[in-house]
Amino acid sequence: MANERIGWAVELLSPEPSERISEIGCGHGVAVSLVCDRLVDGRMVAIDRSAAMIEAAKQRNSGHIAVERLKLHLAEFASANLGSARFDKAFAMRVGVFARGDPARELTRLARHLSPSGRLFLFYDEPSHPAVNIAQRLGAAVCRHGWTVEATLTRAVEGCDVACVIARPPV
Ligand SMILES: C[S@@+](CC[C@H](N)C(=O)[O-])C[C@H]1O[C@@H](n2cnc3c(N)ncnc32)[C@H](O)[C@@H]1O
Repeated sequence: MANERIGWAVELLSPEPSERISEIGCGHGVAVSLVCDRLVDGRMVAIDRSAAMIEAAKQRNSGHIAVERLKLHLAEFASANLGSARFDKAFAMRVGVFARGDPARELTRLARHLSPSGRLFLFYDEPSHPAVNIAQRLGAAVCRHGWTVEATLTRAVEGCDVACVIARPPV
């Protein structure tokens, strides 16, 4: 069962049937299911550095894997081997490096794998931190690396105050 936080994120992401989409830090693969359910000839690649999470995502999404709509990678995103993959949209939810670290390596990787018109959607929430402050932090981190913030949204869902920043890569 998808929760409201993840449902809101996928609504904002708004996957189109033919899009190529990537998720960084897919966890149990709940958002993966919601995205893949909307794809027809589109494809999804989801990455997580935890073997237990990749196994859970695999169990949950075996049907999408069987028809080659979905590939799962067990890897740290910054060093994942994604070959020549190009994505229309990439997203990450509750992945700490974007909100609390320096995502230099991750953003360099993303810029390489997003199509020129591609977009990155970052979602983050922290107990007792207003989403507007988190959105500022997310936005500042991507801007430091030459990305442009296109939109900032916040939403209170299930007791979480969630921030979303939509950014486009450097040209
Ligand atoms: C807090 S969980 C969130 C899971 C899911 N995105 C959600 O919002 O429910 C963070 C997940 O991201 C993964 N993760 C964190 N940093 C990562 C990185 N640099 N590369 C790949 N996976 C990462 C963790 O292993 C974990 O499964």
